[in-house]
Parts: sequence; structure tokens; C-alpha cells
Amino acid sequence: MEVLRAESISKIYCQNAVSLQALRSVSVTIQKGEFVAILGRSGSGKSTLLNILAGLDKPSEGKVYIDGTDIFHLSEEKRTLLRREKIGFVFQAYELLHALTVTENIRLPELTKDADYMRELLDTLEIRQYEKSYPDQLSGGEQQRVSIARALINHPPILFADEPTGNLDSKTERTVIDLLKNLAEKYGTSILMVTHNEDLVKDADRVIRLEDGEIVNG
Ligand SMILES: Nc1ncnc2c1ncn2[C@@H]1O[C@H](COP(=O)(O)OP(=O)(O)O)[C@@H](O)[C@H]1O
Ligand SMILES: [Mg+2]
Repeated sequence: MEVLRAESISKIYCQNAVSLQALRSVSVTIQKGEFVAILGRSGSGKSTLLNILAGLDKPSEGKVYIDGTDIFHLSEEKRTLLRREKIGFVFQAYELLHALTVTENIRLPELTKDADYMRELLDTLEIRQYEKSYPDQLSGGEQQRVSIARALINHPPILFADEPTGNLDSKTERTVIDLLKNLAEKYGTSILMVTHNEDLVKDADRVIRLEDGEIVNG
């Protein structure tokens, strides 16, 4: 079953009369429970693509359908509601709120109070001991794991993750990848993960390679 479809997405950034084409007619389809890796060099358009597919940024051209809904045809308000219901997002720069503790950050988007799942995530991601700590007291890798827990707490049907293991050692990276693969299998979560680690290709059901804003295979 198709959960996401993007048709001919182009993105042009304009800054100080200079325009830069970050995406060139990119089309992608994601099935339920599929684990897709997006690979490409720095600057190839990976974050831009992820932000647009998740409805966080608008394309210059093209359409994105989530469960059949044209998301850029919706009002800002309705798009936010759709995102809250259907999407989890792990940001490259974590984007944690510094005045809130670890548990408060994770609970932030929580709609259902599922204490067991909270505990499971804290344990699996090995951040249980930091429950009452603040983000500034944590290392980059620990903050990254908090942002992963936050993205997962609502059981989103689609998870977008922008280099979610970029600051983790290889053992912790393995733990996170296994957690994501389990979720895809157990709950049918569709996962789109940006990485530049070629080793993770074998974990994905499918790989999309971006070069200079274009898909070169997949
Ligand atoms: N907000 C922005 N304004 C202008 N240019 C941008 C902006 N965001 C990204 N870019 C440019 O778009 C291109 C793709 O960036 P990005 O999607 O962040 O690549 P990646 O995530 O693969 O490193 C780069 O050349 C980058 O400099
Ligand atoms: Mg990026």
C-alpha cells in the first residue's frame, strides 16, 4: 500500500538575487512498512527533499501526496494537523527545547499517554538515566537519541530521519538502525532515512541516490 507519493518535485532557493536549484524533478513513492535510505553527498539536496516530503517546506514545483492527500493543497493549519497525526521527524540538528528535560522533550508531541512505550524507548535508546536531565547536560549523540525518541513517541505511520546516526558511535548506530527496522516490521512504519553511510545500504529495503538534486537510481 502506498503511503507517500511525490511527483516531479523541484526546489529553487532564491537569496540576494542568486537562485540555486536544490532539487530537479524528483519523484518518489513509499510503501507501507518500507525502509528507504536516501544517500548522497553533502549539498546534494537530501535535507531539502526530506523537508518537502514531510510538509515542512514547500516545493517550487511538484506535488506530495500523503495517504492520497495533496499536502500542499491544504491550509497551513490542516497540513500541521496532518503532520502531527502521520509524521515523525528526526532533525539533523536535533532541535530539542533547552528549557525542558529529556522526558518533557519526548512527551511534547504525545497525544496518547503511553508510559510503557516511553520507558521502552528510553531503555532501547539507552537514555533512561537522563530522564530528568536537560539537553545541555547531554552529549551530541545522547541529544540525537532523545530526538529519535521524540519522533517515535506517537507511533507515526511515516518516519523521516535526517542523518539520525550522524553523531553516534558504530555500536549505538546499530542499536538505532535495529530499532527502526523493528518498528517498520512490527507497526508497518514507513521510514525514510537520510545518511551518507554506505554501510547502512544493506539495512534498507531500497536506496535512493541523490546527486546534484537529481535521483540517479532507485
Ligand atoms: N534555506 C536555504 N537557502 C538557500 N540555499 C539552501 C537552503 N537550504 C539548502 N540550500 C542549498 O541547497 C543545496 C542542497 O542543500 P541540502 O538539501 O541541505 O543538502 P544535503 O542535505 O544533501 O547536504 C545546497 O547547495 C545548499 O547550500
Ligand atoms: Mg542535510
